[in-house]
Amino acid sequence: MPAEPLQLAIVGLGNVGTGVAKILTEHPERILQRAGRPIEIRRAVVRDLNKSRDVTLPAGVLTNDIESVIRDPNIHVAVELMGGIHPAREVMLRLLEAGKDIVTANKALLCEHGDEIFECARKHKRTICFEAAVAGGIPIIAAVGQSMAANQIIGIQAILNGTTNYILSEMLLRGQSYGEALQQAQDLGYAEADPTLDVNGTDAGQKLGILAQLAFGVKVKSSEFHVSGIDKLERTDIQHAKDLGYTIKLLARVSLNKGRLEMSVRPTLIRADRPLAQVHGPFNAILLDGDVVGNVWYSGRGAGQLPTASAVTADIIDLAIGRAQLTFAHLDLWRETPPFALAPLNESTSRYFLRLSVEDRPNVLAEVTGVLGRNGISLSTIIQPEAPEVDATAGAIPTVPLIIMTHRTSAGSLAAAERDLDRLASVRSPRMVLAVAD
Ligand code: NAP
Ligand code: HSE
Repeated sequence: MPAEPLQLAIVGLGNVGTGVAKILTEHPERILQRAGRPIEIRRAVVRDLNKSRDVTLPAGVLTNDIESVIRDPNIHVAVELMGGIHPAREVMLRLLEAGKDIVTANKALLCEHGDEIFECARKHKRTICFEAAVAGGIPIIAAVGQSMAANQIIGIQAILNGTTNYILSEMLLRGQSYGEALQQAQDLGYAEADPTLDVNGTDAGQKLGILAQLAFGVKVKSSEFHVSGIDKLERTDIQHAKDLGYTIKLLARVSLNKGRLEMSVRPTLIRADRPLAQVHGPFNAILLDGDVVGNVWYSGRGAGQLPTASAVTADIIDLAIGRAQLTFAHLDLWRETPPFALAPLNESTSRYFLRLSVEDRPNVLAEVTGVLGRNGISLSTIIQPEAPEVDATAGAIPTVPLIIMTHRTSAGSLAAAERDLDRLASVRSPRMVLAVAD
Protein backbone atom coordinates (compact mmCIF):
# COMPACT_ATOMS: atom_id res chain seq x y z
CA MET A 1 0.00 0.00 0.00
CA PRO A 2 1.45 3.43 -0.92
CA ALA A 3 2.52 5.53 2.05
CA GLU A 4 0.36 8.48 3.12
CA PRO A 5 1.39 11.68 1.33
CA LEU A 6 2.94 14.50 3.32
CA GLN A 7 0.66 17.49 2.81
CA LEU A 8 2.21 20.90 2.99
CA ALA A 9 1.46 24.57 2.61
CA ILE A 10 3.89 26.98 1.02
CA VAL A 11 3.38 30.30 2.80
CA GLY A 12 4.87 32.78 0.31
CA LEU A 13 5.01 31.85 -3.37
CA GLY A 14 7.58 34.44 -4.44
CA ASN A 15 11.06 33.79 -5.74
CA VAL A 16 12.00 30.90 -3.42
CA GLY A 17 8.47 29.55 -2.90
CA THR A 18 8.04 29.24 -6.65
CA GLY A 19 11.34 27.34 -6.83
CA VAL A 20 10.14 24.88 -4.18
CA ALA A 21 6.81 24.39 -5.99
CA LYS A 22 8.69 23.78 -9.25
CA ILE A 23 10.97 21.13 -7.72
CA LEU A 24 8.07 19.33 -6.03
CA THR A 25 5.82 19.38 -9.12
CA GLU A 26 8.52 18.70 -11.74
CA HIS A 27 10.31 15.83 -9.94
CA PRO A 28 7.60 13.79 -8.15
CA GLU A 29 9.34 10.40 -8.71
CA ARG A 30 12.63 11.66 -7.30
CA ILE A 31 10.84 13.18 -4.30
CA LEU A 32 8.85 9.97 -3.70
CA GLN A 33 12.02 7.89 -3.83
CA ARG A 34 13.96 10.15 -1.45
CA ALA A 35 11.08 10.88 0.96
CA GLY A 36 9.49 7.43 0.91
CA ARG A 37 6.08 9.02 0.32
CA PRO A 38 4.53 11.59 -2.00
CA ILE A 39 4.73 15.25 -1.02
CA GLU A 40 1.66 17.28 -1.97
CA ILE A 41 1.20 21.03 -2.02
CA ARG A 42 -2.23 21.52 -0.47
CA ARG A 43 -2.10 25.31 -0.18
CA ALA A 44 0.14 28.15 -1.41
CA VAL A 45 -0.45 31.43 0.41
CA VAL A 46 0.22 34.77 -1.28
CA ARG A 47 -0.72 38.41 -0.79
CA ASP A 48 -1.94 39.14 -4.30
CA LEU A 49 -4.06 36.47 -6.02
CA ASN A 50 -3.97 38.38 -9.31
CA LYS A 51 -0.19 38.37 -9.70
CA SER A 52 1.04 36.09 -12.49
CA ARG A 53 3.00 33.07 -11.20
CA ASP A 54 5.82 31.16 -12.82
CA VAL A 55 4.43 27.79 -11.72
CA THR A 56 1.09 26.10 -12.34
CA LEU A 57 -0.73 24.65 -9.33
CA PRO A 58 -4.06 22.79 -9.23
CA ALA A 59 -7.19 24.92 -8.88
CA GLY A 60 -7.95 25.89 -5.29
CA VAL A 61 -4.37 25.61 -4.05
CA LEU A 62 -3.49 29.31 -4.34
CA THR A 63 -5.04 31.38 -1.54
CA ASN A 64 -4.56 34.66 0.27
CA ASP A 65 -6.11 33.23 3.44
CA ILE A 66 -3.52 31.99 5.95
CA GLU A 67 -6.40 30.80 8.18
CA SER A 68 -7.14 28.09 5.61
CA VAL A 69 -3.72 26.64 6.44
CA ILE A 70 -3.88 27.15 10.19
CA ARG A 71 -7.31 25.47 10.42
CA ASP A 72 -6.56 22.53 8.12
CA PRO A 73 -5.59 19.47 10.23
CA ASN A 74 -4.40 17.63 7.10
CA ILE A 75 -1.53 20.08 6.56
CA HIS A 76 1.48 18.71 8.42
CA VAL A 77 4.20 21.08 7.28
CA ALA A 78 4.19 24.82 6.59
CA VAL A 79 7.03 26.21 4.49
CA GLU A 80 7.40 29.85 5.54
CA LEU A 81 8.83 31.82 2.61
CA MET A 82 7.12 35.17 3.02
CA GLY A 83 10.20 36.75 4.61
CA GLY A 84 10.61 39.65 7.02
CA ILE A 85 9.72 39.83 10.70
CA HIS A 86 6.06 40.93 10.66
CA PRO A 87 3.69 39.22 10.10
CA ALA A 88 6.01 36.22 9.62
CA ARG A 89 6.65 35.96 13.40
CA GLU A 90 2.97 35.94 14.31
CA VAL A 91 2.13 33.54 11.45
CA MET A 92 4.89 31.11 12.41
CA LEU A 93 3.86 31.06 16.08
CA ARG A 94 0.26 30.34 15.11
CA LEU A 95 1.31 27.59 12.70
CA LEU A 96 3.36 25.93 15.45
CA GLU A 97 0.48 26.22 17.92
CA ALA A 98 -1.75 24.61 15.27
CA GLY A 99 0.61 21.61 15.17
CA LYS A 100 2.50 22.24 11.93
CA ASP A 101 6.18 21.54 11.52
CA ILE A 102 8.01 24.44 9.89
CA VAL A 103 10.57 24.82 7.15
CA THR A 104 11.87 28.36 6.75
CA ALA A 105 14.54 30.38 4.95
CA ASN A 106 13.87 33.44 7.10
CA LYS A 107 17.19 34.38 8.71
CA ALA A 108 15.89 37.78 9.83
CA LEU A 109 13.17 36.15 11.89
CA LEU A 110 15.40 33.40 13.30
CA CYS A 111 18.20 35.78 14.26
CA GLU A 112 15.93 38.32 15.92
CA HIS A 113 13.22 36.04 17.42
CA GLY A 114 14.75 32.56 17.28
CA ASP A 115 14.52 32.01 21.05
CA GLU A 116 10.78 32.66 21.17
CA ILE A 117 10.08 30.58 18.06
CA PHE A 118 12.20 27.62 19.16
CA GLU A 119 10.61 27.67 22.60
CA CYS A 120 7.15 27.63 20.99
CA ALA A 121 8.20 24.69 18.77
CA ARG A 122 9.48 22.73 21.77
CA LYS A 123 6.35 23.48 23.77
CA HIS A 124 4.16 22.12 20.98
CA LYS A 125 6.56 19.25 20.15
CA ARG A 126 7.12 20.59 16.66
CA THR A 127 10.23 20.80 14.47
CA ILE A 128 11.81 23.78 12.72
CA CYS A 129 14.15 23.29 9.75
CA PHE A 130 16.15 26.25 8.48
CA GLU A 131 18.94 24.99 6.19
CA ALA A 132 18.08 27.64 3.56
CA ALA A 133 18.35 30.51 6.05
CA VAL A 134 22.15 30.64 5.78
CA ALA A 135 24.17 30.51 2.55
CA GLY A 136 21.33 29.41 0.23
CA GLY A 137 22.14 26.04 -1.35
CA ILE A 138 25.21 25.28 0.79
CA PRO A 139 24.38 22.69 3.50
CA ILE A 140 26.07 24.76 6.21
CA ILE A 141 23.46 24.32 8.95
CA ALA A 142 23.88 20.54 8.72
CA ALA A 143 27.66 20.99 8.64
CA VAL A 144 27.89 23.19 11.73
CA GLY A 145 24.98 21.56 13.61
CA GLN A 146 25.84 17.93 12.90
CA SER A 147 28.92 17.13 10.83
CA MET A 148 31.31 19.14 13.04
CA ALA A 149 29.90 17.64 16.24
CA ALA A 150 33.27 16.22 17.34
CA ASN A 151 34.80 19.70 17.29
CA GLN A 152 34.72 22.94 19.15
CA ILE A 153 34.58 25.34 16.25
CA ILE A 154 37.17 28.05 16.87
CA GLY A 155 36.68 30.23 13.83
CA ILE A 156 34.35 30.98 10.94
CA GLN A 157 35.28 33.20 8.01
CA ALA A 158 32.60 33.52 5.38
CA ILE A 159 30.98 35.29 2.50
CA LEU A 160 27.31 34.99 3.45
CA ASN A 161 25.50 37.43 1.17
CA GLY A 162 25.07 36.65 -2.52
CA THR A 163 23.79 40.09 -3.51
CA THR A 164 26.79 42.01 -2.20
CA ASN A 165 29.22 39.43 -3.53
CA TYR A 166 27.55 39.74 -6.93
CA ILE A 167 27.80 43.56 -6.81
CA LEU A 168 31.46 43.54 -5.75
CA SER A 169 32.32 40.97 -8.45
CA GLU A 170 30.53 42.91 -11.18
CA MET A 171 32.27 46.14 -10.14
CA LEU A 172 35.70 44.46 -10.00
CA LEU A 173 35.53 42.13 -13.00
CA ARG A 174 33.18 43.94 -15.39
CA GLY A 175 33.51 47.57 -14.40
CA GLN A 176 29.78 47.87 -13.64
CA SER A 177 28.54 50.70 -11.47
CA TYR A 178 27.21 49.91 -8.00
CA GLY A 179 23.67 50.90 -9.06
CA GLU A 180 23.69 48.73 -12.21
CA ALA A 181 25.01 45.70 -10.35
CA LEU A 182 22.45 46.08 -7.54
CA GLN A 183 19.61 46.29 -10.06
CA GLN A 184 20.85 43.10 -11.74
CA ALA A 185 21.07 41.31 -8.39
CA GLN A 186 17.45 42.29 -7.74
CA ASP A 187 16.35 41.18 -11.23
CA LEU A 188 18.09 37.83 -10.72
CA GLY A 189 16.20 37.24 -7.46
CA TYR A 190 19.26 37.38 -5.16
CA ALA A 191 18.28 40.44 -3.13
CA GLU A 192 15.92 40.72 -0.19
CA ALA A 193 12.54 42.41 -0.74
CA ASP A 194 14.26 45.43 0.87
CA PRO A 195 17.80 45.30 -0.60
CA THR A 196 19.04 47.78 2.02
CA LEU A 197 19.34 44.75 4.29
CA ASP A 198 21.78 43.16 1.84
CA VAL A 199 23.98 46.16 1.11
CA ASN A 200 24.20 47.49 4.69
CA GLY A 201 25.40 44.12 6.03
CA THR A 202 22.28 43.28 8.09
CA ASP A 203 21.46 40.09 6.15
CA ALA A 204 25.01 38.73 6.52
CA GLY A 205 24.95 39.77 10.20
CA GLN A 206 21.74 37.80 10.78
CA LYS A 207 23.23 34.74 9.09
CA LEU A 208 26.42 35.04 11.15
CA GLY A 209 24.22 35.31 14.26
CA ILE A 210 22.59 31.97 13.39
CA LEU A 211 25.94 30.28 12.69
CA ALA A 212 27.40 31.66 15.95
CA GLN A 213 24.40 30.29 17.81
CA LEU A 214 24.97 26.84 16.33
CA ALA A 215 28.74 26.84 16.68
CA PHE A 216 29.16 28.58 20.04
CA GLY A 217 25.75 28.45 21.74
CA VAL A 218 25.55 32.26 21.98
CA LYS A 219 22.35 34.20 21.43
CA VAL A 220 23.50 37.28 19.56
CA LYS A 221 21.49 39.70 17.47
CA SER A 222 23.03 41.53 14.54
CA SER A 223 22.83 44.82 16.49
CA GLU A 224 25.21 43.45 19.17
CA PHE A 225 28.39 43.22 17.09
CA HIS A 226 30.11 45.28 14.41
CA VAL A 227 28.08 45.16 11.18
CA SER A 228 28.76 47.39 8.20
CA GLY A 229 28.03 46.94 4.52
CA ILE A 230 29.24 47.85 1.06
CA ASP A 231 26.87 50.79 0.60
CA LYS A 232 29.55 53.41 1.27
CA LEU A 233 32.27 51.78 -0.84
CA GLU A 234 33.43 53.58 -3.96
CA ARG A 235 34.85 52.11 -7.13
CA THR A 236 38.15 53.80 -6.26
CA ASP A 237 38.42 51.64 -3.09
CA ILE A 238 38.05 48.48 -5.18
CA GLN A 239 40.74 49.77 -7.56
CA HIS A 240 43.19 50.83 -4.81
CA ALA A 241 42.74 47.46 -3.12
CA LYS A 242 43.41 45.70 -6.43
CA ASP A 243 46.57 47.76 -7.01
CA LEU A 244 47.78 46.67 -3.56
CA GLY A 245 47.09 42.97 -4.36
CA TYR A 246 43.77 42.63 -2.50
CA THR A 247 40.10 42.02 -3.30
CA ILE A 248 37.33 43.57 -1.20
CA LYS A 249 34.69 41.14 0.11
CA LEU A 250 31.89 41.51 2.64
CA LEU A 251 33.51 39.22 5.20
CA ALA A 252 31.62 37.69 8.12
CA ARG A 253 33.95 36.52 10.88
CA VAL A 254 33.67 35.01 14.30
CA SER A 255 36.60 33.64 16.24
CA LEU A 256 37.02 32.19 19.69
CA ASN A 257 39.95 33.81 21.44
CA LYS A 258 40.78 33.16 25.12
CA GLY A 259 37.16 32.19 25.83
CA ARG A 260 35.70 35.29 24.17
CA LEU A 261 34.14 35.73 20.77
CA GLU A 262 35.21 38.38 18.29
CA MET A 263 32.49 38.84 15.73
CA SER A 264 32.06 41.19 12.77
CA VAL A 265 30.60 41.67 9.32
CA ARG A 266 32.37 44.33 7.27
CA PRO A 267 33.91 44.98 3.87
CA THR A 268 37.42 43.58 4.15
CA LEU A 269 40.52 43.50 1.99
CA ILE A 270 41.53 39.89 1.37
CA ARG A 271 44.78 38.98 -0.41
CA ALA A 272 43.80 38.28 -4.03
CA ASP A 273 45.44 34.82 -4.01
CA ARG A 274 43.33 33.58 -1.06
CA PRO A 275 40.41 31.23 -1.88
CA LEU A 276 37.83 33.56 -0.29
CA ALA A 277 38.95 36.40 -2.57
CA GLN A 278 38.23 34.21 -5.59
CA VAL A 279 34.59 33.50 -4.70
CA HIS A 280 32.60 35.61 -7.15
CA GLY A 281 29.03 36.35 -8.24
CA PRO A 282 26.15 35.01 -6.11
CA PHE A 283 28.43 32.34 -4.65
CA ASN A 284 29.00 32.14 -0.90
CA ALA A 285 31.84 30.37 0.90
CA ILE A 286 32.42 29.38 4.49
CA LEU A 287 35.72 28.41 6.06
CA LEU A 288 35.20 26.56 9.33
CA ASP A 289 38.07 25.96 11.72
CA GLY A 290 37.45 23.04 14.08
CA ASP A 291 39.81 22.14 16.93
CA VAL A 292 39.89 18.50 15.80
CA VAL A 293 39.42 18.56 12.03
CA GLY A 294 41.22 21.85 11.23
CA ASN A 295 39.97 23.85 8.26
CA VAL A 296 36.90 22.75 6.29
CA TRP A 297 35.70 24.70 3.28
CA TYR A 298 32.20 24.97 1.81
CA SER A 299 31.23 26.88 -1.31
CA GLY A 300 28.23 27.14 -3.62
CA ARG A 301 25.38 29.37 -4.70
CA GLY A 302 24.30 31.42 -1.71
CA ALA A 303 21.28 33.11 -3.27
CA GLY A 304 18.80 32.57 -6.08
CA GLN A 305 15.60 30.66 -6.66
CA LEU A 306 16.66 27.06 -7.27
CA PRO A 307 19.76 26.89 -5.03
CA THR A 308 17.69 28.13 -2.10
CA ALA A 309 14.74 25.92 -3.05
CA SER A 310 17.15 22.96 -3.13
CA ALA A 311 17.91 23.47 0.58
CA VAL A 312 14.23 24.05 1.46
CA THR A 313 13.18 20.88 -0.37
CA ALA A 314 15.86 18.82 1.38
CA ASP A 315 14.40 20.00 4.71
CA ILE A 316 10.89 18.98 3.58
CA ILE A 317 12.20 15.51 2.64
CA ASP A 318 13.98 15.26 6.01
CA LEU A 319 10.67 15.98 7.73
CA ALA A 320 8.84 13.45 5.54
CA ILE A 321 11.17 10.64 6.54
CA GLY A 322 11.40 11.72 10.20
CA ARG A 323 15.10 12.59 10.29
CA ALA A 324 14.59 16.31 10.90
CA GLN A 325 12.53 15.62 14.02
CA LEU A 326 15.43 13.69 15.56
CA THR A 327 17.98 16.31 14.60
CA PHE A 328 15.88 19.18 15.94
CA ALA A 329 15.24 17.42 19.24
CA HIS A 330 19.00 17.23 19.79
CA LEU A 331 19.91 20.67 18.52
CA ASP A 332 20.93 22.63 21.59
CA LEU A 333 19.72 25.97 20.35
CA TRP A 334 18.51 29.14 21.97
CA ARG A 335 18.97 27.79 25.45
CA GLU A 336 19.96 29.91 28.45
CA THR A 337 23.53 30.40 29.79
CA PRO A 338 25.66 31.01 26.72
CA PRO A 339 29.12 29.51 27.30
CA PHE A 340 31.07 32.37 25.69
CA ALA A 341 30.82 36.16 25.92
CA LEU A 342 31.40 38.65 23.14
CA ALA A 343 34.74 40.47 23.38
CA PRO A 344 34.42 44.28 23.72
CA LEU A 345 34.50 45.81 20.26
CA ASN A 346 37.40 48.17 21.02
CA GLU A 347 39.71 45.27 21.87
CA SER A 348 39.44 43.49 18.51
CA THR A 349 42.55 43.90 16.39
CA SER A 350 43.10 44.07 12.64
CA ARG A 351 45.19 45.65 9.96
CA TYR A 352 43.41 48.53 8.24
CA PHE A 353 43.17 50.26 4.85
CA LEU A 354 42.52 54.01 5.03
CA ARG A 355 41.56 56.24 2.13
CA LEU A 356 41.73 59.89 3.12
CA SER A 357 41.08 63.00 1.11
CA VAL A 358 43.76 65.52 2.14
CA GLU A 359 44.82 69.01 1.14
CA ASP A 360 47.68 69.01 -1.34
CA ARG A 361 50.06 71.29 0.59
CA PRO A 362 53.27 71.01 2.61
CA ASN A 363 53.34 69.10 5.94
CA VAL A 364 49.97 67.34 5.50
CA LEU A 365 51.59 63.90 5.32
CA ALA A 366 53.46 64.67 8.56
CA GLU A 367 50.21 65.75 10.28
CA VAL A 368 48.41 62.55 9.28
CA THR A 369 51.24 60.16 10.14
CA GLY A 370 51.76 62.12 13.38
CA VAL A 371 48.15 61.44 14.44
CA LEU A 372 48.45 57.74 13.61
CA GLY A 373 51.83 57.49 15.36
CA ARG A 374 50.60 59.21 18.53
CA ASN A 375 47.80 56.62 18.69
CA GLY A 376 50.32 53.80 18.46
CA ILE A 377 49.41 52.86 14.89
CA SER A 378 52.27 51.68 12.74
CA LEU A 379 52.07 52.01 8.95
CA SER A 380 52.98 49.35 6.41
CA THR A 381 52.29 51.34 3.19
CA ILE A 382 51.46 54.91 2.32
CA ILE A 383 50.60 55.99 -1.23
CA GLN A 384 49.74 59.39 -2.58
CA PRO A 385 49.01 59.07 -6.31
CA GLU A 386 50.83 61.74 -8.30
CA ALA A 387 48.76 64.96 -8.47
CA PRO A 388 48.93 67.89 -10.91
CA GLU A 389 51.21 70.81 -9.94
CA VAL A 390 49.38 73.11 -7.49
CA ASP A 391 48.66 76.62 -8.78
CA ALA A 392 49.58 78.76 -5.75
CA THR A 393 47.64 81.75 -7.15
CA ALA A 394 44.34 79.80 -7.39
CA GLY A 395 42.08 80.26 -4.33
CA ALA A 396 40.98 76.85 -2.95
CA ILE A 397 43.57 74.28 -1.95
CA PRO A 398 43.06 71.13 -4.07
CA THR A 399 42.69 67.74 -2.40
CA VAL A 400 44.37 64.44 -3.21
CA PRO A 401 43.68 60.88 -2.06
CA LEU A 402 46.02 59.35 0.50
CA ILE A 403 46.03 55.55 0.80
CA ILE A 404 47.43 54.05 4.00
CA MET A 405 47.78 50.42 5.07
CA THR A 406 48.45 49.94 8.77
CA HIS A 407 50.03 47.15 10.74
CA ARG A 408 47.77 45.36 13.22
CA THR A 409 46.14 47.69 15.72
CA SER A 410 43.11 47.69 18.00
CA ALA A 411 39.71 49.05 16.97
CA GLY A 412 39.98 51.35 20.02
CA SER A 413 43.29 52.90 18.81
CA LEU A 414 41.86 53.32 15.34
CA ALA A 415 38.73 55.05 16.68
CA ALA A 416 40.90 57.43 18.73
CA ALA A 417 43.03 58.20 15.65
CA GLU A 418 39.89 58.85 13.59
CA ARG A 419 38.69 61.35 16.20
CA ASP A 420 42.06 63.15 15.96
CA LEU A 421 41.95 63.10 12.13
CA ASP A 422 38.53 64.77 12.34
CA ARG A 423 40.23 67.70 14.08
CA LEU A 424 42.77 68.22 11.26
CA ALA A 425 41.69 70.93 8.82
CA SER A 426 43.87 69.30 6.18
CA VAL A 427 41.82 66.06 6.21
CA ARG A 428 38.50 66.34 4.41
CA SER A 429 35.45 64.10 4.17
CA PRO A 430 34.67 61.44 3.19
CA ARG A 431 37.06 58.95 4.70
CA MET A 432 37.06 55.20 4.04
CA VAL A 433 38.35 52.77 6.66
CA LEU A 434 38.32 49.05 5.86
CA ALA A 435 39.64 46.03 7.69
CA VAL A 436 42.39 43.93 6.12
CA ALA A 437 42.29 40.17 6.65
CA ASP A 438 45.49 38.36 7.67
P1 NAP B 1 9.70 37.23 -2.30
O1 NAP B 1 10.05 36.94 -3.70
O2 NAP B 1 9.51 38.65 -1.88
O3 NAP B 1 8.39 36.39 -1.95
C1 NAP B 1 7.63 36.60 -0.81
C2 NAP B 1 6.30 35.85 -0.96
O4 NAP B 1 5.57 35.96 0.26
C3 NAP B 1 5.40 36.40 -2.06
O5 NAP B 1 4.73 35.37 -2.73
C4 NAP B 1 4.38 37.26 -1.30
O6 NAP B 1 3.12 37.31 -1.93
C5 NAP B 1 4.27 36.47 -0.01
N1 NAP B 1 3.90 37.32 1.11
C6 NAP B 1 4.61 38.33 1.65
N2 NAP B 1 3.94 38.87 2.67
C7 NAP B 1 2.79 38.18 2.78
C8 NAP B 1 1.67 38.27 3.63
N3 NAP B 1 1.60 39.18 4.59
N4 NAP B 1 0.66 37.38 3.46
C9 NAP B 1 0.71 36.45 2.48
N5 NAP B 1 1.75 36.31 1.64
C10 NAP B 1 2.77 37.18 1.79
O7 NAP B 1 10.82 36.67 -1.30
P2 NAP B 1 11.89 35.51 -1.59
O8 NAP B 1 13.08 36.09 -2.28
O9 NAP B 1 11.23 34.34 -2.16
O10 NAP B 1 12.39 35.20 -0.10
C11 NAP B 1 11.59 34.46 0.78
C12 NAP B 1 12.39 34.15 2.05
O11 NAP B 1 13.53 33.39 1.69
C13 NAP B 1 12.92 35.38 2.79
O12 NAP B 1 12.92 35.10 4.18
C14 NAP B 1 14.35 35.49 2.30
O13 NAP B 1 15.19 36.13 3.21
C15 NAP B 1 14.71 34.03 2.18
N6 NAP B 1 15.80 33.70 1.26
C16 NAP B 1 15.79 34.21 0.01
C17 NAP B 1 16.81 33.85 -0.86
C18 NAP B 1 16.87 34.39 -2.26
O14 NAP B 1 17.84 34.10 -2.97
N7 NAP B 1 15.88 35.16 -2.70
C19 NAP B 1 17.82 32.99 -0.44
C20 NAP B 1 17.79 32.49 0.87
C21 NAP B 1 16.77 32.86 1.71
P3 NAP B 1 2.92 38.00 -3.37
O15 NAP B 1 3.66 37.13 -4.34
O16 NAP B 1 1.45 37.98 -3.61
O17 NAP B 1 3.51 39.37 -3.25
N1 HSE C 1 19.49 38.29 -0.14
C1 HSE C 1 20.23 37.15 0.27
C2 HSE C 1 21.59 37.19 -0.37
C3 HSE C 1 19.51 35.90 -0.16
O1 HSE C 1 21.80 37.96 -1.30
O2 HSE C 1 22.47 36.45 0.09
C4 HSE C 1 20.15 34.65 0.37
O3 HSE C 1 19.97 34.57 1.76
